[in-house]
Order: sequence, then structure tokens, then C-alpha cells
Amino acid sequence: MDDDAKTPTPGTSVPLSALAGGAVRRVGAWTVGLSRDEPFAVDSRCRHQLADLSKGSVDADGCLVCPWHGARYDVRDGRMVQGPRGFFGYHGPSRGYRDLVKAYARFLPLRRRPTSVRGDRVSVGTDSADSADGGNS
Ligand code: FES
Repeated sequence: MDDDAKTPTPGTSVPLSALAGGAVRRVGAWTVGLSRDEPFAVDSRCRHQLADLSKGSVDADGCLVCPWHGARYDVRDGRMVQGPRGFFGYHGPSRGYRDLVKAYARFLPLRRRPTSVRGDRVSVGTDSADSADGGNS
């Protein structure tokens, strides 16, 4: 394999430095970030109201946080671990609603893609099957 074949394509990868401090980035259809220093790639559409999760962030617990109403996802299995705090333009307490959304989201976890780190870039795999082993390779 020559060096060009080992170099990640910019359109399918992101620099590790762009993911510092809980930042996430869009790579194709996927939201890429670091959770507990491990790269991940998941669907970019929130299961609540379809916000672009690549505009969100990773919190101190390693969860992906939606930018609209703060739903939190465990990127290891794609499941929503905390429902939204609000809906449409409202942002605030909504405990019953939050629990309801979390309950239905159980059946719609974020799909995941394997990732790999080469040099200073994180690449998203092109496998069509969802990863069942944690998403990283
Ligand atoms: S759209 Fe993501 S929490 Fe509402």
C-alpha cells in the first residue's frame, strides 16, 4: 500500500484537534467527536425534533448533547440517556415530556459507524452495516 492510500480523505475525516474540548463535527452524514478520548461517529439527526447533532457538543460524561433542547446520548450504543428539556422554541422544565421522549427514543437509537485514527485525523468507516461492537475499529 502506498502512502496516498493510507492518507485519510478530508471529506471523510476530521482533524483530531477540531474535536478538542467536547467539540463535534460533521463528516458526511455523521457526527464525529471524542467521548472519553475515544472517537465516535453517529447519526446527525436528534431523535426528538431532528436537530443537527453536529452542532452539539460532548459533555463531561462523554455524552453527545443536542444543541436544541439538550437531549443526551450515550455514543457507545446510540441510546438517549436523558430526554429533551423543552420542545419547539420552549427551553425549560418538562419532566413528563422529557421522560416520554426518552421512552420512545429507546426504540430509535442513533446509528453508529466505525471510526479510525490515522495520523492526526479521525476517519469514518464506509461500512453500510451498523456497528454492533461499540463503533470503533
Ligand atoms: S431536537 Fe434534540 S433535544 Fe430537541
